[in-house]
Amino acid sequence: MEAKELEQNVKSLLCAVQTVVSHRELDQIKSDILGKSGYVTRALKSLRELPDEEKKAYGAEINKIKNHAEEIIAAKIAEFEERLIEEKLKNEKVDITLPVESPRFGGLHLITNAIRRIRDYYLARGFLVLDGPEIETDFYNFDALNIHKYHPARQSHDTFYLKGFEETLLRTQTSCVQIRTMMEMGVPVRMVSIGKTYRNDALDATHSPMFHQLECLVVDEQPVNIGHLKNELRKSLSFFFDVENVALRFRPSFFPFTEPSLEVDCRYTQKDGRIIITEDGDRWIEIAGAGIVHPNVFKNCGIQGQQYGFAFAFGLDRLVMMKNGIQDIRNLFDTDSRWLKHYGQ
Ligand code: DAH
Repeated sequence: MEAKELEQNVKSLLCAVQTVVSHRELDQIKSDILGKSGYVTRALKSLRELPDEEKKAYGAEINKIKNHAEEIIAAKIAEFEERLIEEKLKNEKVDITLPVESPRFGGLHLITNAIRRIRDYYLARGFLVLDGPEIETDFYNFDALNIHKYHPARQSHDTFYLKGFEETLLRTQTSCVQIRTMMEMGVPVRMVSIGKTYRNDALDATHSPMFHQLECLVVDEQPVNIGHLKNELRKSLSFFFDVENVALRFRPSFFPFTEPSLEVDCRYTQKDGRIIITEDGDRWIEIAGAGIVHPNVFKNCGIQGQQYGFAFAFGLDRLVMMKNGIQDIRNLFDTDSRWLKHYGQ
């Protein structure tokens, strides 16, 4: 086929491209020109029979025609696509004024919610609400709290030490925030700190290597005594459990940073396997550690003279579990979306 003839044939087909209205028609033309037995393909095949001196010129001619045809066809495809989008825009409208069906924007985790609620309670009562670092040093977590290097209490905490940083650990208790607060602000002080603590405990229904504590410290110029401590704990726990009055029992205990030290139990009753905190419950459950601040703690914080203070702490996760009838601490942290949806607030 002569180059002229090829050009003529292709030209007339390309003219038809201008008037096609469907992809199908366009595909047909494309195949007639560029397809397996289309004009261009056939012309390229015929090159083989030409003498070498004509091959080059004719080949270049075919390629020119081929490129031109491809361009025109691609432009038509783009035109079709644009028209399709325009039609869609015209016909498919989104009514943004329609109400959304049962929106679900997520909620606050039970622990987050408990922290916020109790934080607001203490802020409203004039307490400082303070944070401390979760990565602590031996000094704040143990030494300053009167827990000496070889004190058995150190071993019982199963501490996570940071590799390569000998004196550095994940805090095992929020009591270290007592130390930071008194060293920075001195006394008198009324503070709480709520946050994460870590111990190398195996994860099971009642233990988690990460859990939350609430720490409270009150130091006053006036002597404070166990009565004040008891009153504060009663108020705080009654608020937490949303009951008029919790009934508390104090048992002598030992913590190196308090003297005397107490373990605090709370009355409850069991109903359908759930713990219900109530003043006239028939059983006791351990709920907090507490005591009168040991003079060595003041000394370690560089505080001079006679000081009076009480402190207590409770594990927030356990309390949240009791309040919500949750039996397994793992539920709090295993991010099951159905659970989170149920308990999220
Ligand atoms: N830090 C103690 C623990 O984690 C709990 C505790 C006991 C805190 C007595 C106190 C306290 O502030 O006075 O086991």
